[in-house]
Amino acid sequence: MNQHRESWGSKFGFIIAAAGSAVGLGNIWKFPYITGENGGGLFVLIYLVCIAVVGIPIMMAEIVIGRSTQKSPVGAFTVLTGKKSSWKIVGWMGVFVGFIILSYYSVVAGWALNYTFMSLTNFFSGKSPEEIGSVFGLLYTSSGINIFWHAIFMLMTIGVVLGGVKGGIERWNKILMPALIVIFVILAIMSVFLSGWREAVDFVFLPHIDRLKASGVLEALGHAFFTLSLGMGAMLTYGSYLQKDTDIVKSSIWISVLDTLVALLACMVMFPIIFTYGFSPEAGPGLVFKTLPIIFSQIGTGGMFISFIFFVLLVFAALSSAVSLLEVVTSYFIDEKSWTRHKATLITGGIIFLFGIPSALSGAGTLFPQWESMYGKNFFDTFDYLASNWMLPLGGLFISIYVGWVMDPKLRQSEYLTGSAITNTWYYEAWLIFLKFVAPVSVILIILQRVGLLDIDRLLGAIF
Ligand code: TRP
Repeated sequence: MNQHRESWGSKFGFIIAAAGSAVGLGNIWKFPYITGENGGGLFVLIYLVCIAVVGIPIMMAEIVIGRSTQKSPVGAFTVLTGKKSSWKIVGWMGVFVGFIILSYYSVVAGWALNYTFMSLTNFFSGKSPEEIGSVFGLLYTSSGINIFWHAIFMLMTIGVVLGGVKGGIERWNKILMPALIVIFVILAIMSVFLSGWREAVDFVFLPHIDRLKASGVLEALGHAFFTLSLGMGAMLTYGSYLQKDTDIVKSSIWISVLDTLVALLACMVMFPIIFTYGFSPEAGPGLVFKTLPIIFSQIGTGGMFISFIFFVLLVFAALSSAVSLLEVVTSYFIDEKSWTRHKATLITGGIIFLFGIPSALSGAGTLFPQWESMYGKNFFDTFDYLASNWMLPLGGLFISIYVGWVMDPKLRQSEYLTGSAITNTWYYEAWLIFLKFVAPVSVILIILQRVGLLDIDRLLGAIF
């Protein structure tokens, strides 16, 4: 089977595809709204720390496992730890989490498709900011339209994964990622001229201790995993298509820097609009859809065009991430169950579509109307919460423990350094410290806080 295994066309191709997986709705849709809900500055700071001390080391660990075994998660743990080992559960968990995340991710991507279509019909021009904002509510509560776009997006994802990874994703990402960054820089420059810009800079970059809730710390860590595509074997799987000449250290840092850059740019585009028009930063999941069309509507004739380009790019950013999620699920059945790519993609994609339907109907409340009163959050939010705040950090915890403490040290070191220009082992030693201690301890502390065994608020209060 191994000789059929695909690989990336170039080192740059891998970086761009992995960055394509990382950069997605997490950066543009989710990061700004959770930053808004968690009071800004301090949350952003904690998030950056999580990226640096937990995210990057775990990304390197995933790529080390993937490239050394040339397998998707379940197969990788089988190769490393044997057929009967319980480490395989980490691989299965990854497949399961990929399944869950994609099911609601596709619904949000469907919203982006809907806004692309609305740009074409020139919906936003001549409307007031309130009118533009209220369309989102209309979309959110309509069952049929949500299912329709969710279906279209799943079909697109299935289409790309059916075609295999190399030619499709790699080629598309090379065009789309730079385009996305260019349009964001343009929008960020436009935002500088809004009257709310200073207030936005203050909100996003100045730490206001009093505005952060303790739950925000777990959310920042969970989001660091989500945005870097970590904790369920997506980077592991992408790493498995790598050849030995790639520098894992450099690539991981590049991917993470790019990802963080897009997230911060997204905030610097959206928050000036929010403060200029007196919206609440706590608008929740509708934030990007309620704010950006306002600036598009005010540009005049070119606005519709920019709006269209923006949402198309958002759809593609989501697509390149969704593909990595489906690839993990699909490659399990290809590698472990010997299904053909065709069969695996169609069946898993179809089931994920079905599982996404309750998420698509969450706003309308037509399916499971009692869900929210029973579980505190609607179907969509429940699974987003479980996946990003629990399953990804737990997956990351196991991966860091495995690579830090269990994996054969010789294999680990040679895999880490192969392809790297680094000649001294200083980086390697530093990485090991982060992987062995900093990452697992952070995850455990934050989980203890969440289950009520530790009170970080009081701890922080004692320090500051
Ligand atoms: N990182 C993507 C985003 O920010 C989402 C994503 C893709 C993901 N693959 C993943 C999240 C794997 C967790 C795990 O939108």
